[in-house]
Amino acid sequence: EQKQRYYTIGFSQCVESDDWRKTMLQEMHRELAFQSNLHFIYRQADGNSQKQVMQSNELLRSGIDLLIISPNEGEPLTAVVEQAYLKGIPVIVVDRKVATPHYSAFISSDNYAIGKTAGEYAAHLLKGKGKIIEITGLPKSSPATERHNGFADAIKNYPSLQVVQQINGEWLPETAKNELSKIATRYPDVNLVFAQNDMMAQAAYEVFKDMVGIKPAIIGVDGLPSTGLKFVSEKTITATMLNPTGGEEIIRTAVKILNKEPFFKENLIQTTVIDSTNVRIMQLQVAKAASLQTQIERQEKMLENQTRIYNNQRAFVYVLVSS
Ligand code: FRU
Repeated sequence: EQKQRYYTIGFSQCVESDDWRKTMLQEMHRELAFQSNLHFIYRQADGNSQKQVMQSNELLRSGIDLLIISPNEGEPLTAVVEQAYLKGIPVIVVDRKVATPHYSAFISSDNYAIGKTAGEYAAHLLKGKGKIIEITGLPKSSPATERHNGFADAIKNYPSLQVVQQINGEWLPETAKNELSKIATRYPDVNLVFAQNDMMAQAAYEVFKDMVGIKPAIIGVDGLPSTGLKFVSEKTITATMLNPTGGEEIIRTAVKILNKEPFFKENLIQTTVIDSTNVRIMQLQVAKAASLQTQIERQEKMLENQTRIYNNQRAFVYVLVSS
């Protein structure tokens, strides 16, 4: 019988208060449940880059075998990633990029494609003509710049389509709401809001809801059942671009790296548009996946019980035989 090796994985998450990050963690645990030889240490930094540097260094000092990190902002977290990697600790960077090629793997949605798809959707919806407000995430995080670039590239083919105002919502609904409230009345003829995540999209809906006569279309990003899918089905927002968290994929890649199996360095997950035409089927699919997951967990419990009974009986037989 081959002896199992035990490994410790450290995960440094930039923030955990939103459903997207919570879903990522859940998906990671779902995959970790199949890996009995993995010990998992989790830290989250409340959206504070300095705190995240400290936490990552602590994880590394504690002797982890692999680091998973979703950096709050790229620049401040670059040194930690680079140092760990150059010391021989594999590093998987997740969702937001760092400014170095010295990491083992990167797993994220294709954020440029998310922006581009959103831009094409906007152009189609507005028939190539209209005024747009863009609400970005943290400007120093790569999904914000990439979603912006993709969106800008898509609409630049339409000269009558223009972004009249860009505001920084920091990925947070409260910030988006505050910043948008300051300027909203200046644009009574705005046709569309592109918010770089669904929470900020819903915040935009809140701001315009009570304003007479201003009813822009609203596009968000993420497409979670608890946020984007709900908002689209309730018609508070027009569409969302799917942004899978990649949680299971991240743990599978960690396992490959630790087992010295081949893996890909760059992993981009595909996006798709969700609007009123397909939101129902997306919700049904999510519900189906959730019910399968419950079944798997029930079967795991049954198997545990059976194993316990079997072990008890074995111990009992042993007592009988040896007495
Ligand atoms: C969650 C989040 C998501 C967004 C991602 C970008 O913390 O703001 O809504 O898609 O981070 O990194």
